[in-house]
Amino acid sequence: MIKLVRGTYDILPPDVRLWHAIETEMRAVFESYAFGEIRTPIFEATELFVRGVGEETDIVSKEMYTFKDKDEKTSLTLRPEGTAPVVRSYIEHHLSDEARMIKLYYIGPMFRRERPQRGRFRQFYQAGVEVLSPNDNPAIEAEVLEMLMLLFERLGVSDLDLVVNSIGCRECRPSYIERLRNEVRGRAAGFCEDCRQRGEKNPLRVFDCKVKSCQPLIEELPRITDNLCQQCRDHFAGFRGYLDDREITYRVDGRLVRGLDYYMRTTFEILSSSLGAQDTLVGGGRYDGLSEDLDGPPTKGFGFAMGLERLILSIPEPEKLAPGPGPAYFLATMGEDAFRYATLLARKLRATGCSVYLDFAGRSLKSQMRLAGKLDAASVVMIGDNEIKSGRLVVRDMNTREQKELSESELVELAGP
Ligand code: HAM
Repeated sequence: MIKLVRGTYDILPPDVRLWHAIETEMRAVFESYAFGEIRTPIFEATELFVRGVGEETDIVSKEMYTFKDKDEKTSLTLRPEGTAPVVRSYIEHHLSDEARMIKLYYIGPMFRRERPQRGRFRQFYQAGVEVLSPNDNPAIEAEVLEMLMLLFERLGVSDLDLVVNSIGCRECRPSYIERLRNEVRGRAAGFCEDCRQRGEKNPLRVFDCKVKSCQPLIEELPRITDNLCQQCRDHFAGFRGYLDDREITYRVDGRLVRGLDYYMRTTFEILSSSLGAQDTLVGGGRYDGLSEDLDGPPTKGFGFAMGLERLILSIPEPEKLAPGPGPAYFLATMGEDAFRYATLLARKLRATGCSVYLDFAGRSLKSQMRLAGKLDAASVVMIGDNEIKSGRLVVRDMNTREQKELSESELVELAGP
């Protein structure tokens, strides 16, 4: 028997309804903040991620699904994230506009070859937004967080922890990174092998280390937040001020460096206490300069992405978001003529926009009624030879158990919007 590939899963109809409900809420919230949806391809040139996300990151060096196209030359990669593709598209379609922000959102599958566990998959869904802008006003960062908080409120998600940091800019970061490298080198014996390597290649990544014995050493490392240039300090203070204006609570964590190389200045994560080990629900930050790195126009960028599987795990009562109405009408038929009549009636009812279930198995009335109950149908229309002759259909409300007789046109009228 052929089974699911490790780290993937199916979403079956009742759950897809929940996903739709969540996506509908998201679209409404994002669009109320003037974001427009963008859809980019599932695969891109590998170079986009190598240059965009960074060769030394875990995502690019270990987790990508990369393959050669049939021409044996072109290297393609299933997208592991959405920011680099959105910026590619922004450059390619000349969306850059001196006079305004370009606000885009996306909802779709991403692919990373990570070790599967609760809340971590190899194909997972992200919803994300990207603001591409001529200026780097930190007010947009606070506004995006406000939007996220509104979304969580609408979905009933609480117990969230917003963690923020600033990782500096191309001016102040290099000297800090050099300092960090020297510190890690100086205590190399205490660090794990991975950290020693990270210390040489990309010292910021040392902060991602989960090895227990490294933690006390990491605690002692200098924090970027204490080594920012004046402009970065002002920017960070501005961002926090705008959060305070909105009464959004947060904590600053100097260890929050994020696993993608395009970030600068503001980074943030939202953690959810209901998630267990994989507790990062949202990750995001500022990425001024990514457009230039991909040969695009000078652009400031800010955005986030959240995992939809983790979002669903954080919703306390998901069934409330998508209560499970069955079909509006179950057509229960007795005999061949009634069945033929019902196939046409079903078409008329469906044309009004309501959902109709018609059973094709030729079961007894009793078992059709049982099935209607199982499917949670709102009403059952009972159709037999007598009903066809008299033109009066018996309609039973499955909640109140009340029955009434209606003509076909009355029933269709009633079903209509
Ligand atoms: P990221 O932190 O790599 O950021 O991913 C964002 C979110 O995607 C995570 O917080 C998590 O909820 C979800 N996620 C990541 N990997 C997995 C996985 N293997 N299984 C399930 N969920 C996962 C980015 O991707 C950036 N592009 C975010 C961004 C947008 N920054 C600026 N703009």
